[in-house]
Amino acid sequence: MPSYIKAISAQQRLDSRGNPTVQVVLESDKGTFRSLVPSGASTGAHEAVELRDGDKSVYGGKGVTKAVGNVNNVIGPALIEKKFDLAKDLGKIDQFMRDLDGTPNKAKLGANAILGVSMAASRAGAAAQGVPLYEFLRKEAGVDANAPYVLPVPFFNVLNGGVHSGNTMAFQEIMLAPTGATSFAEALQFGAEAYHTLKTVISQKFGGPATGIGDEGGFAPPITKPEEAFDLLGEAVSQAGRTGKFQYAMDPASSEFFDSAKGTYDTGFKDKSPNVHSSQQMQNLYKSLVAKYPIALLEDPFAEDDWASWTAFTAATVGADTTIGGRPPPELVGDDLLVTNVERVKEAAEKKACNSMLLKINQIGTITEAIAAANLAFSYGWSVFVSHRSGETTDDFVADITVALNTGHLKSGAPARGERIAKYNRLMDIEDELKAAGKKSIYAGEHFSHPVKTVKQV
Ligand code: PGA
Ligand code: ZN
Repeated sequence: MPSYIKAISAQQRLDSRGNPTVQVVLESDKGTFRSLVPSGASTGAHEAVELRDGDKSVYGGKGVTKAVGNVNNVIGPALIEKKFDLAKDLGKIDQFMRDLDGTPNKAKLGANAILGVSMAASRAGAAAQGVPLYEFLRKEAGVDANAPYVLPVPFFNVLNGGVHSGNTMAFQEIMLAPTGATSFAEALQFGAEAYHTLKTVISQKFGGPATGIGDEGGFAPPITKPEEAFDLLGEAVSQAGRTGKFQYAMDPASSEFFDSAKGTYDTGFKDKSPNVHSSQQMQNLYKSLVAKYPIALLEDPFAEDDWASWTAFTAATVGADTTIGGRPPPELVGDDLLVTNVERVKEAAEKKACNSMLLKINQIGTITEAIAAANLAFSYGWSVFVSHRSGETTDDFVADITVALNTGHLKSGAPARGERIAKYNRLMDIEDELKAAGKKSIYAGEHFSHPVKTVKQV
C-alpha cells in the first residue's frame, strides 16, 4: 500500500540562538512527522540560500515567514497533488521541490523551506516502510545491507571561539574526540567527564566568570592562541585520568578571517588588533600544532575560495607519504569549501584540495542531495564528517544520517545544552536499539575516517 502525504504545514519557531527557524509538520496515513531546520553563523558563501524576511523591525530581519509561507502555499499543495509514495519516492519529492524552486541555490523558495519538507518526508518514509529513520536513509544511500552499523566518534567542541563566542580566540572550534572509548555510550561518558574537568581547569586558571559557554556549548575562556587551547585540553584529559583516550581536532573556520584581496589571514580579527599571516605562515602554524598535539582532524584551515592553499597543504600533508610528529597527518575536512555540494566536491577532487567532506544538510537543502554528495566523496576514497550547525534545535536528524552512511564521526558541539545533547542521546538510543535487535554494530574509535573499510579488511 503506498503512503501519501495528507497535509503539510510550516510554522515559525526559534533556534538555539533565539532566532527564527522553520518547522514543518507533515501528515500521512502513518502519523504526523515534524522537522526543525538548523542555521549557521559562519555560513559558507556557496551554501544554498536560507530565506530570511529582511524586515529589520521584526527579529532583526531574521524572520522566516516567507519560507514558512512557501511551504504552506507553494510546496505543500503541489506535493500533495503529485501523490508521491513516501515509502520510496524521497528522491522524486526532493527533485520536484528543486524544479519548483528553479534556481541553482534554492533562492526562490528557500533552502530552509525545502529542507524542512525533505526531513519530514524522510521520517514519513521511514514510517511507511516500518523502519527506523537511519534504516530508511541507509537504503536511500545504497549502503551494503551486510555492512555492520557504525556508531560514530563524537567530536566534542569544548572550546568555542571565532564567531561563536565573545572571547579573542580566532579559531572557531577546538574539539575532543574520544577515539579510545569502546562504545558510543562510553565515548559520551569520557567526553562529559573531560568537559567537567575542563571547566574546573578553566575556573582555576581564569576564575569562575571564565566558564561561560559559546553557541555550541563549549567554554570560551579569555585565550587567544591555539596552543593555549590545546594545553587546556591536555590538562583536562590528564586530570580526568583519560590520557591516550582522546585525540583533538580543530575548525579555524578561516573564511571568517581571510582577506581575499590580499590572500592573507588575520587571526587578530576578533579584537581588531591585526595579526596577519600569509598562506605559507598559516600552513607552518598548522604543521607546528599538528606536530605538537595529537590533532586527528583539521577543518577549513583555508578559506572557501583559497584553492591554491588547500591544494598546497594537502600535497604537503595527506598527499605526501609522511608523518607529522610521529603520527599520520590529520584528516583535512572541507566545510565552507565544499558546502555539501557535488559540484564543489568534484572541483576539490580535481584540485586534490582535501580528503574529507563535512556534511551539513542545510548547506544543500535536500536529504537526497546531501546523500549524493557523501557518496561522491566516498567514491574518491575520502571520509565524511557529519555536522550540526551553530544555530540548532532539538531535532536529531543528523544522528540518524550519521549511522545510515557509516561516516564514523560527527560533531554536535559540547556534551552540554539540549540542542547538542539531543543528537548524542539519539545515538545512544540507536546503539541500544541495534544491540537489542542483535544487529552487528561497531564503535568507530581510532578508525573513524574509514570504519567500514577497516572492518572489512580485518
Ligand atoms: P556554523 O559553524 O554552523 O556557524 O557554520 C559550524 C562550522 O563552521 O563547522
Ligand atoms: Zn566548519
